[in-house]
Amino acid sequence: MSFDILVKGGLLADGRQADVAIAGGRIAAVEPGITAAAAEVIDARGRLVSAPFVDCHFHMDATLSYGRPRVNASGTLLEGIALWGELKRIQTRDEIVARALDYCRQAVGKGVLAIRSHVDVTDPTFATVEALLEVRARVKGTLDLQLVAFPQDGWFRAAGAEAQVIRALDAGVDIVGGIPHFERTMAEGAASVRAACELAAGRGLMVDLHCDESDDPMSRHIETLAAETVRCGLQGRVAGSHLTSMHSMDNYYVAKLLPLIAEAGVAAIPNPLINITLQGRMDSYPKRRGLTRVPELRAAGVTVAFGQDCVRDPWYPLGSGDMLEVAHMGLHVALMTAPEQMRAAFAMVTEAPARIMGLDFGIEPGRRGSLVVLDAPDPIEALRLRPARLAVISDGRVVARSVPARTEVTAGF
Ligand code: FE2
Repeated sequence: MSFDILVKGGLLADGRQADVAIAGGRIAAVEPGITAAAAEVIDARGRLVSAPFVDCHFHMDATLSYGRPRVNASGTLLEGIALWGELKRIQTRDEIVARALDYCRQAVGKGVLAIRSHVDVTDPTFATVEALLEVRARVKGTLDLQLVAFPQDGWFRAAGAEAQVIRALDAGVDIVGGIPHFERTMAEGAASVRAACELAAGRGLMVDLHCDESDDPMSRHIETLAAETVRCGLQGRVAGSHLTSMHSMDNYYVAKLLPLIAEAGVAAIPNPLINITLQGRMDSYPKRRGLTRVPELRAAGVTVAFGQDCVRDPWYPLGSGDMLEVAHMGLHVALMTAPEQMRAAFAMVTEAPARIMGLDFGIEPGRRGSLVVLDAPDPIEALRLRPARLAVISDGRVVARSVPARTEVTAGF
């Protein structure tokens, strides 16, 4: 028996020490002391060997465009949407492809092997969709890229948006998107949720809506999303992204809402870096934290994953593609500093988003031969240090390596 890759002496996220053998693009064995030969042996002694990082909420058509044509002066969601409208009119398909591929390389270097990206279908030139379909094909084999048909300017609020969603799905975009809180009225928002779920059910697709990305406690489209998920038989195939209004809702209403979300099998995708900077902008003091109720959703049995959402674009000037940075912010804002909560935060950028995206990732025999070796011994130290990704393996192939940065302290004490 000979393997393609043998990762020796690593520590798994649950603390077990095990070698991981990969053959034919799949994990062949996970056990201590594997002695069989391998074409390549990676020394992971004392290092965390993790399932790949997965980002289940991103905007790849806008990434790395920061400052073009100007920066977001107010820092709000609404100015970001207006600024993106300006950029849509001047950016070319080639430019979107180049920026997206640049971002994919950065993300793979950080151990991200799957991304769900929303793509704005209300661009009348359709350049965004065509560009990201090209990017999806070019990164295939290294990075799984799922695309969501996202009517940024509103399913009903933007003329022709519904037809553009259908056009994008016909062109090969994977998932139905929406933005109910941005529609003109609560009623049109609810109608857009119904339309998205019916379209997905008719085509056998998943749904992922930007849902209640607002500080308005009366933005309650998640309630409609849970109900429509059940009515359309979409349990387990629907995600509500952001859900920030839940932060501001009263506790009595949330006590009714959480079981409805759980019963519907709707997943929650908060985006901590973005939520903490875009929300609360109209508050004086105290300023609300713009993050949904993460521990409470988890306690109710809802699958919760953290997304990156934005990197250097009209909405956010920072970001690095490192999901550890996302989880680090998430656990701070959600006050998840108990050891088991920090381990959960690590799982919310690895296992949980893989489950939402339907990916066969995980360090178990038979699963895809994809993993990351980190220069830290366990998930909590990984969150603290955000260390080098020593090796990134995708379907049995090493796709990135990093050398840890070294600091020599010369102070004389
Ligand atoms: Fe988003």
